[in-house]
Amino acid sequence: MRVIVEATFETVGSRAAEIVADLVRKKPRCVLGLATGSTPLGLYRELVRLHREEGLDFSRVATFNLDEYVGLPPDHEQSYRYFMQSNLFDHINVDQRNTYVPDGRALDFDAYCEQYEKMIRDAGGIDLQVLGIGSDGHIAFNEPGSSLGSRTRLKTLTSETVRDNARFFGSEAAVPRLAITMGVGTILESRRCLLLATGDHKARAIRDTVEGPVTAQVTASALQLHRDVICVIDQEAGRLLERRDYYREVEKAQSMLQRGEISKLLPHGGGG
Ligand code: PGA
Repeated sequence: MRVIVEATFETVGSRAAEIVADLVRKKPRCVLGLATGSTPLGLYRELVRLHREEGLDFSRVATFNLDEYVGLPPDHEQSYRYFMQSNLFDHINVDQRNTYVPDGRALDFDAYCEQYEKMIRDAGGIDLQVLGIGSDGHIAFNEPGSSLGSRTRLKTLTSETVRDNARFFGSEAAVPRLAITMGVGTILESRRCLLLATGDHKARAIRDTVEGPVTAQVTASALQLHRDVICVIDQEAGRLLERRDYYREVEKAQSMLQRGEISKLLPHGGGG
């Protein structure tokens, strides 16, 4: 897992946007997996800026969102479809027909979830999956205890998640209890994962994800099994990481390599 520690929420957003934009430029028909929540807002703001000011072209991109609350229509202000429209889709030139968010009004959940998985496969699979993380270490709505092989399905939210999200609904009672979510297994099939976290309240979840054991109790820890994960976090979210200094060294070496400065990384002196 590659860990990039940035100074602030803003620089987490711009660093993540660089990674997404790089893919969109190299592979204009790419498939992006997208996430909702407060964390990716900086990323989406920067993607909108890159589209407006630098002509970043999303016209051939397809997107699949991780999850959606059950029981909310797409035009409900707290639905994830509404979130994606207002924070990203309405401000870039993506073809709206190629933006997929699970439908929280589905009634035959099993059939619908299977169909969602099929749509991802038919699109060629997800090239880059953006992920936030819950304070309990969940990715998408894969709450602690979710199978690490799970697929898109109906999930009951934990009281911690309901509490975390009550701020958006005005009260806990108004928060939906069920969601449709991609599974951990679905997420692990993405070609690359981009995990974002900011703020002190994510520090424990990030430590458990990056340096803890792989466990269904922290579903994000399953990312350790994936061959290409980039974790972009701010200093506060990285506060409890024991190997912070090493991650910084890796990034330094990485940028020297990119600048063609390999000689700086080779041993000098010492005779022989
Ligand atoms: P947040 O949510 O970005 O709003 O903190 C992340 C999550 O619960 O997955």
